[in-house]
Amino acid sequence: MPQIQPHLFVIFGATGDLTKRKLIPALYHLMQDEDVARRCVVLGAARSDWSDEQFRTSAQEALREKGYSEEAVSTWCTRNLFYQCLGDDGDDYAALGDRIDQLERHLDLPGNRAFYLSLPPSIYGPAVEGLGEAGLSESPGWTRVVVEKPFGYDLPSAKKLNETVHRHFDEDQVYRIDHYLGKETVQNLMAFRFGNAIFESLWNREHIERIEITVAEGLGVGGRGGYYDQSGHVRDMVQNHLTQLLTLVAMEPPSSMDANAIRQEKVKVLNAVQQPNPETDVVFGQYQSGTVEGESVSGYREEPDVPDDSTTETFAALRLNIPNWRWQGVPFYLRTGKRLPTKLTQIAVRFEGAPVSLFQTDGQPCIPQGADCEARSNELLITLQPDEGFDLRFEVKAPGDNGNGTMNLETQQLSFSYQDAFGPVPDAYETLLRDIIVGDPTLFVRGDEVEASWQLYSPLLDAERPVHPYAAGTWGPEAVDRLLSNWTSGARERVPQRAAEGA
Ligand code: BG6
Repeated sequence: MPQIQPHLFVIFGATGDLTKRKLIPALYHLMQDEDVARRCVVLGAARSDWSDEQFRTSAQEALREKGYSEEAVSTWCTRNLFYQCLGDDGDDYAALGDRIDQLERHLDLPGNRAFYLSLPPSIYGPAVEGLGEAGLSESPGWTRVVVEKPFGYDLPSAKKLNETVHRHFDEDQVYRIDHYLGKETVQNLMAFRFGNAIFESLWNREHIERIEITVAEGLGVGGRGGYYDQSGHVRDMVQNHLTQLLTLVAMEPPSSMDANAIRQEKVKVLNAVQQPNPETDVVFGQYQSGTVEGESVSGYREEPDVPDDSTTETFAALRLNIPNWRWQGVPFYLRTGKRLPTKLTQIAVRFEGAPVSLFQTDGQPCIPQGADCEARSNELLITLQPDEGFDLRFEVKAPGDNGNGTMNLETQQLSFSYQDAFGPVPDAYETLLRDIIVGDPTLFVRGDEVEASWQLYSPLLDAERPVHPYAAGTWGPEAVDRLLSNWTSGARERVPQRAAEGA
């Protein structure tokens, strides 16, 4: 594994929520190695006129909440954290450059720099310009710029932002974050597909009937109503997180595990996906009040900073087709929303059923078509969070018979639990920050990839479309049945009670 080199990690938006909740804990955890910690310095930057001391106190609070030892945290914060007030104009960026030079000289750092933009998306462009014009896109060592999602608001704005970024930075200096790619179980999709020939040989239109991708959250929009109402669920979740899962499930095997080989295949499959038709392939919803995991919750329009006539979608279900040799005719169903019954990220692969069903209660073989003759399909559930793992469902003969000498089949499953095998998995941000620091771009989104993904959803962003209400705590509006009525995915513990249904 490449080693962490001495560097300066500059966080723009250092007084914000992401810095406290994710970035500082991840950096602290990475720097547990004393050798590394001594020469890796964090410089927070934001508009607030904070001192180094105030930034350290805020970081200490964040780390205390994570349960780290007071003394070690205090030593790290005092030695490794600094702060620089940063406004919008050129002088501010020049002052930032001076502070960086001064810290590097004083701490004997070689000029390796990462600039992490944890900012409102509307100021990514100006921040990149500010860095470029102050000469901060180059340094005596490496320089990397990290841009949080969302990268753009639609295709034209993503293109414009890419142009701004590329005016000052080369593509190999740019790290576009989609934190789903840092999740161990998301990375494991590649290990599962390309490290196991038995599954790869079934992974195509010959053997798969359909694929469902579910990203459900029990939470509502919380305090982010202002941002979310301008954005909506397609921009917040579908264009990025669900699309990343789709590309990892549907891509061809890369020629190697090299970052460009992988990203090339992801872009290829993304370019092959057909744009969904807003009238026939998509259902939008918005949550009303209801009960989630036993707790009464209010509706979306009652959330802070959400207008009471908002038509922003908090739920989206889509059917996508990928008309290429591997997938033509296999529908990919995507379903995601806020205030659904539980948190669950899951990919359900439903395999083709047997061509002839031999196990009917009347003992007569039949050709499966409709309710009169059923051949159950095998299903593979890949659960990415929580309760990470795999379940492969298949039919077994239940003891005894149907009373007339015919076999009674029951669905059972083989299960693998990530937690049981490996213990707790590291936080996605820790993985991603390490990769930024060691210069591995594999888990970051390439410029052409982000544009291809906006292009795919363009028809949905501008379309006039109905937004159906759904009660919080349900799996979305009833209109979803128009796309698919019998979703395979659900809670991982759900073992189908097919014996009880009376086979
Ligand atoms: C963020 C979205 O990117 O992902 C949030 O902006 C969402 O709205 C979050 O809640 C979900 O992330 P995770 O890791 O909790 O599944």
